[in-house]
Amino acid sequence: MTSYHLRGASPAKTRADAVVVGAVQGSKGVALADGADDVAAAYGRSLRPLLSTLGFSGKPGEVARVPTQGRLNTPLLVVVGLGKETDEPAARLLAVRRAAGAAARSTTNAASVALALPAEDASLVRNVIEGYLLGAYTFGRYLSTSPDTNAGSPVARRQEVVAAFEEAQVVAAAVGATRDWVNTPANDLTPPRFADEITAAAKGTKVKVTVLDEKKLAALGCGGLLGVGGGSSAPPRLVELRYSPSQPVAHVALVGKGITFDSGGLTIKTGHGMETMKCDMAGAATVTQATLAIARLGLPVRVTAYACLAENMVSGTSMRPGDVLTIYGGTTVEMLNADAEGRLVLADGLARAVEQKPDLIIDVATLTGHMVMALGTKVSAVFGHDEVVGPVIAAGRASGEKHWPMPIPPDIVERVHGSKIADLAQHDWVRWGGGLLAAAFLREFTDDLPWAHLDIAGPGFNSGAASGHLTAGGTGFGLTTLVDYARGLSDASVASAG
Ligand code: BES
Ligand code: ZN
Ligand code: MN
Repeated sequence: MTSYHLRGASPAKTRADAVVVGAVQGSKGVALADGADDVAAAYGRSLRPLLSTLGFSGKPGEVARVPTQGRLNTPLLVVVGLGKETDEPAARLLAVRRAAGAAARSTTNAASVALALPAEDASLVRNVIEGYLLGAYTFGRYLSTSPDTNAGSPVARRQEVVAAFEEAQVVAAAVGATRDWVNTPANDLTPPRFADEITAAAKGTKVKVTVLDEKKLAALGCGGLLGVGGGSSAPPRLVELRYSPSQPVAHVALVGKGITFDSGGLTIKTGHGMETMKCDMAGAATVTQATLAIARLGLPVRVTAYACLAENMVSGTSMRPGDVLTIYGGTTVEMLNADAEGRLVLADGLARAVEQKPDLIIDVATLTGHMVMALGTKVSAVFGHDEVVGPVIAAGRASGEKHWPMPIPPDIVERVHGSKIADLAQHDWVRWGGGLLAAAFLREFTDDLPWAHLDIAGPGFNSGAASGHLTAGGTGFGLTTLVDYARGLSDASVASAG
């Protein structure tokens, strides 16, 4: 078991296998960053030419490994790039997060690592620790031997810094658990097994879990989950999680898309198109682990979460284009594209959520390729009410995730109301604005409560190589935003009370 310590000791005197310091691209070339002063002093003027010889320029995430040969108490100095010097707080947080992640991957064989990255306040500490732990993430479920992990010991003193350090470990573990679920192949993570794993994950926390199976879903009239899941031999599940602290400052409902595999159903995808579709449950994994993390942190926010689990498959019992499905609560939907399945399972979850009259609802879903086209693979689209969208964007800025606001214009809303035979049309074959249409469809089930919808189809899964705190495969995107959102609600109420 890796343990982490928070120390005020000087990094040059710390005994560890490696010490990690940051370097910025300043106006006069590369310079060591805050936290590394005594390392800089130990090297004096010799460090800059050495880094230059190594071809190190301080670019974000760039790493130089320097044997210290007695200059420091650690045998190895790891210098990691923070990019251009900046005073912009969000940019600094992201820079240390990425750098710590890159450093983690270049110190995998060290038994102990001292992190001496900029950490003068609690949010920097949080980003250093989360970045480091997330960069060190490996998916171990299918490996016979598990890789070694490291210990880190950043500098620190104050109480809020110590708290941030402890909390960062809870949050990073939750992101890791989210990644594990997203990375687990669909043959091992069917809806019933995912529901079992959620139940197991909540053991020992203050989160209560209820699993609704296909019989219960039929009795309740959850026609979205039943329609989408009807083609699979593994039946759908709706997993409801409840965290009720004693004096909550707010009640947040979270809804996650949990398609354990998206073949496209009868509107079948191409072979290449479904290659990464085990990731289509990332939203459900994220809202579940966010709920558990909020409970572990003991935040005074009541959370009710809905993991909408189904497998979208092709068989004689698959839903057919033209079928009419009745969503929980009675709204009828003409289903016209079996590959636009996410909105159908989310509709049941949202309709269940509004019944609880939460103060706000956030749903998270790998919903549309349209938003990948629009924003790429690092930025999520966020739709909904300004009062929720604004704090979502702010929470992302504080915790290393970028969200971009998207509209739901009236002509798109009209398209959702375009069915001749049902209350709503699930799809039309107009090529444009598909991500917006999906959001407009979801909004129909929110009862006009304050709501935000995060389309994480791009950033939820990294098909490329590891970079910074982002490893390959499932990213756990959205988790830190949700936890930070809840933290913001708690802090705001403390501020208004005081
Ligand atoms: N799960 C996909 C969206 C997706 C695409 C996630 C790429 C991750 C990466 C979703 O169910 C889907 O198939 N969406 C369709 C919507 C269309 C039919 C309106 C799409 O993107 O083409
Ligand atoms: Zn899907
Ligand atoms: Mn689909």
